[in-house]
Amino acid sequence: MKTRSFARSQAAFTEAKKVIPGGVNSPVRAFGSVGGDPVFFERGKGSHVFDIDGNTYIDYVASWGPLILGHVPEKVVEAVERALSGGSSFGAPTERETALAEKIVRMVPSIEKVRMVNSGTEATMSAIRLARGYTGRSKVIKFIGCYHGHVDALLVQAGSGPMTLGTPGSPGIPESHIADTLALPYNDIDTVKEVFDNMAGDIAAVILEPIAGNMGVIPPKDGFLEGLRELTEKHDSILIFDEVITGFRIAPGGAQELYGVTPDMTTLGKVIGGGLPVGAYGGRADIMDHIAPDGPVYQAGTLSGNPLAMAAGLATLEAVSDESFHDTLEEKAARLAREFETAANAAGVPAFHARVGSMICTFFTDGEVVDFDGAKTCDTDRYAKFHHEMLVRGIYLAPSQFETMFISIVHTVEDIEQTASAVREVMKLL
Ligand SMILES: Cc1ncc(COP(=O)(O)O)c(C=O)c1O
Repeated sequence: MKTRSFARSQAAFTEAKKVIPGGVNSPVRAFGSVGGDPVFFERGKGSHVFDIDGNTYIDYVASWGPLILGHVPEKVVEAVERALSGGSSFGAPTERETALAEKIVRMVPSIEKVRMVNSGTEATMSAIRLARGYTGRSKVIKFIGCYHGHVDALLVQAGSGPMTLGTPGSPGIPESHIADTLALPYNDIDTVKEVFDNMAGDIAAVILEPIAGNMGVIPPKDGFLEGLRELTEKHDSILIFDEVITGFRIAPGGAQELYGVTPDMTTLGKVIGGGLPVGAYGGRADIMDHIAPDGPVYQAGTLSGNPLAMAAGLATLEAVSDESFHDTLEEKAARLAREFETAANAAGVPAFHARVGSMICTFFTDGEVVDFDGAKTCDTDRYAKFHHEMLVRGIYLAPSQFETMFISIVHTVEDIEQTASAVREVMKLL
């Protein structure tokens, strides 16, 4: 193993901390839960990233999910360059927005109409406002360990980011903003039923990640999504799938296609922007028609539907629509996940391995993980060591136990073999 220097990254972090809170523009990037200083990147290409000290890594963070085609995919770059040369923003309608909306409507089962925004946070915030405006009710059920961005009302027991900081939510959010938020255990349909039995007439919406990806990777138990569908339908509440991570990644139509459960509304982000800042929310036309200008629920955005973002989104969704795309991704991910499992078993390291499609997580714990309480039993010190030892071997993993490892379509067999060889070495050190 060659020795790597991180001197320039360390110096860059020191400088950044003088002018940026914590030196980062999003907290988990700071390596708080694994220790050490974050690596500063210079560029990416395909499945690899290159830091400012000249170190190379195989990247399994993929900018936290958007880069399903890897770094700088030719078609996306070309599309963005073409869009930029024609004007970076108009604040007026363009045909690319309609083209992307049409593509989303074709791909995502629940979406008849869709509104573009600039981030996943904006998408969930707007979806909740619309659900409340449409139903005339105020309470929202979310699930412990699910993260829906930093929306005041949803930043309650919200998984990886806040968990890494050791805070349940955040100061700065008045009690009144979360008074109508009910945080329930993931995968526990009986508790949801009880809550509906007591206050059905008050519940505007149930929002969840159909595959939880912010407390490691936790798939829904058999019957959980179906149970939520039944309860919300029965009580006229809006079921919202937050597919910011899973949208277009798990299947062309997201987790709702994989599990065959169609929500009323869906929030999107990450892959939809192909690496540019985009989010979207969509759903049944009768609900979406309640947004301004057709309806009374207000939501707007100076850069919403931005030409560069629309171009990147269109090129990305075109690529993931290819018939064999998700099968290829599945094969690569299955192979990589098998290597992690085999290496942990061979080294006698207690671990629970979870995977749905190209979302992978090795939980350093004994038991099965089906909810946030299970995720919390992980040995986070062991993950920190694992992360560091993989990093110095040129494998870039998320700097938190409670994140998803993402594989992209450009990870090669050689990448997977190189990663497997590092995992085998590192598991023996834990
Ligand atoms: C499921 C989910 N919803 C919403 C968000 C918020 O998206 P953004 O960071 O683009 O605001 C995230 C971000 O990680 C997410 O994972």
